[in-house]
Amino acid sequence: MPHPVKPWPYPRWIAHRGAGQLAPENTLAAFRVGASHGYRMFECDVKLSLDGVPFLLHDDTLVRTSNAHEQLGAGLSAVGGDHPWATLSQLDAGSWHSRAFAGEPLASLGAIAHFCLANAYCLNLEIKPTPGLERQTGAVVAEHAARLWADAAVPPLLSSFDVQSLQAAQGAQPQLPRALLLDSLWSGWLETARSLDCVAIVCEQLLWDAASSSQARSAGFRLLSYTVNEPTQAQRLIDLGLDGLITDRIDCFAPARQPPAN
Ligand code: G3P
Ligand code: MG
Repeated sequence: MPHPVKPWPYPRWIAHRGAGQLAPENTLAAFRVGASHGYRMFECDVKLSLDGVPFLLHDDTLVRTSNAHEQLGAGLSAVGGDHPWATLSQLDAGSWHSRAFAGEPLASLGAIAHFCLANAYCLNLEIKPTPGLERQTGAVVAEHAARLWADAAVPPLLSSFDVQSLQAAQGAQPQLPRALLLDSLWSGWLETARSLDCVAIVCEQLLWDAASSSQARSAGFRLLSYTVNEPTQAQRLIDLGLDGLITDRIDCFAPARQPPAN
């Protein structure tokens, strides 16, 4: 007997890492660029500073997406979670992308929440745990999300590849919707998503086919995919009935022209 699908208040098209190709990923500037292209939902990666402030950063280290190497000095750790927010907030997270974004700071979760709530944008918060702090990152991000979105009509969707982080988020704020991220269909994926009481499963786009999508849908999950950057990929996934497509190509896919998921 198939399970009923969970309620789904989110739009189909989701800008990846804010909208992190035309602007520096995971910064407020990227969100603004995505919004200017008509996007109403964003995915971003969140982890903890040394003093427990949730902030946006994809990699474990600051090397690729900031000027940490100039600012922090030789010999100091480049790991994001090794620095307090007071230090991180002074870094330039825009110059690496292009001169137009020079001086763009790293974004705190608080700043992103403020922007999304003011504009009624939806958010998919990917918990990218600070290494060694998988449970703590999940719990602290969930606590902050519950407080920041306390009065919001649509809560952020918390997702992670890390099962421990999702378990901790579930323990801290069980009412916040969760999604299991998968880069392979490892043994027990469906049971794990069930045990985490997830509303959705977010797969690397090649993993969804007729069998996996019907298995997940019959179990009551919403289906999302990353990172969908080609029109043929998008059409295949739409034909499979996916609920959410996470893309870098905000210049290629126009969300306003796409019908919303049911
Ligand atoms: O949340 C979907 C996607 O962002 C997962 O991959 O490495 O871009 O965070 P990654
Ligand atoms: Mg991500």
